Amino acid sequence: MTDAHPVDLGALPRDFAWGTATSAYQIEGAVDEDGRAPSIWDTFSRVPGAVDGGDTGDTACDHYHRWREDIALMRQLGTNAYRLSIAWPRVLPGGDGPVNGKGLDFYDQLVDGLLAAGIEPSVTLYHWDLPQALQDRGGWPERATAEHLAAYAGLVAERLGDRVTQWATLNEPLCSAWIGHLEGRMAPGQADLTAAVRASYHLLLGHGLTAQAVRAAAPGARIGIVNNLSTVEAATDSDADRAAARRMDGHVNRWWLDPVHGRGFPADMREVYGVDLPERPGDLATIAAPLDWFGLNYYFPQVVAADPDGPAPYARQIERPGVPRTGMDWEVDAHGLETLIMRLHEEYASPQIRITENGSSYPDTVAPDGTVHDPERAAYLTAHLAACARAARRGAPVAGYYAWSLLDNFEWAYGYDKRFGLVHVDYATQRRTVKTSGRHYAGIIAAHRAG
Ligand code: IFM
Repeated sequence: MTDAHPVDLGALPRDFAWGTATSAYQIEGAVDEDGRAPSIWDTFSRVPGAVDGGDTGDTACDHYHRWREDIALMRQLGTNAYRLSIAWPRVLPGGDGPVNGKGLDFYDQLVDGLLAAGIEPSVTLYHWDLPQALQDRGGWPERATAEHLAAYAGLVAERLGDRVTQWATLNEPLCSAWIGHLEGRMAPGQADLTAAVRASYHLLLGHGLTAQAVRAAAPGARIGIVNNLSTVEAATDSDADRAAARRMDGHVNRWWLDPVHGRGFPADMREVYGVDLPERPGDLATIAAPLDWFGLNYYFPQVVAADPDGPAPYARQIERPGVPRTGMDWEVDAHGLETLIMRLHEEYASPQIRITENGSSYPDTVAPDGTVHDPERAAYLTAHLAACARAARRGAPVAGYYAWSLLDNFEWAYGYDKRFGLVHVDYATQRRTVKTSGRHYAGIIAAHRAG
């Protein structure tokens, strides 16, 4: 399955990880099978009006039953890497306490299936599906949640660590903290600055504790954290807008980057939030656990103006006219990916950078002949891979790219309306169809391998 492609990816290393990415709640379905208990997303998706169309992850892509077919699709694309997440409420239904053996068995088989297909699993331990039982005990604003994450992660690493090397502690803690606790647009649906800042702190503490637990259980583990970063530009040259851009950069980038790189929480943002951090001696060193790699999720740039009456960080995103946008209404700017990779390389000296997510949503349709033609997504892919190659040429240690996503899936508060897959999913029949962009990706991978 190949397709012609026009970019020079020669600068990407020979052992580049060519991957796709998904997450548990977005694809697995089977939410009440084999001992899984509810997560905060099972609860949130049932709140009237919380998710478009009242959609839930109850069935999603039914990957829990169709994972063999999905591995075959990965092979068809020619990928050699796959980023998945483990559902904490499948493994430890109560968040702590008794282990659900069937939950661990599922991931055990999945990992074996991937390895047999020549596909390296990259396992994310937390992609937003906190067990509801822990939310009922206070969730991320409570320190105990960080400790529970590490204990759960240690169990998973004990079971899979003989075969899995690549581990990510958290996916996009920004979304858990800011969107879930400050904006209320994601689970658990809170809008409270103090709760959000405390959640951000405990997520990062959980990252550090998890890194320790995974290393203890699986000594060969290579540990990373996955953050969604954005380039941030001021809408105008005014002092107010430039200060707003600095605050937004602090909010979406530095708050997450500085502590894990041993620089502590940015002082300017502590002042902006004005919330006491629940610090204890030794926490900062724990949070700054050594990273073997950094996972960069990149989707869009931000252009911001001051918004003194808005919520923290008192900056709002401006819509620039005439700029191409995806179906999420996100600006397309591949150059931003190169900029962020270079920032990680130059400012934070990341030892290895993996693009753990990048992709686009468009309103795909199945043509009468059964094909799904999505040229915009193919162009998006090409442009962003070219950006990776430019960064690699400039010396950045870019080691992998995981296209978001393998499959169309449950796009959180947007439900199933937004499609990000290289493979189309007909949710009524669960039929999978490789899109033009999937064939395009296969062509790029094959050409890089041949070169
Ligand atoms: O679908 C999400 C994913 O779960 C996390 N990163 C962004 C994707 C697209 O919104």
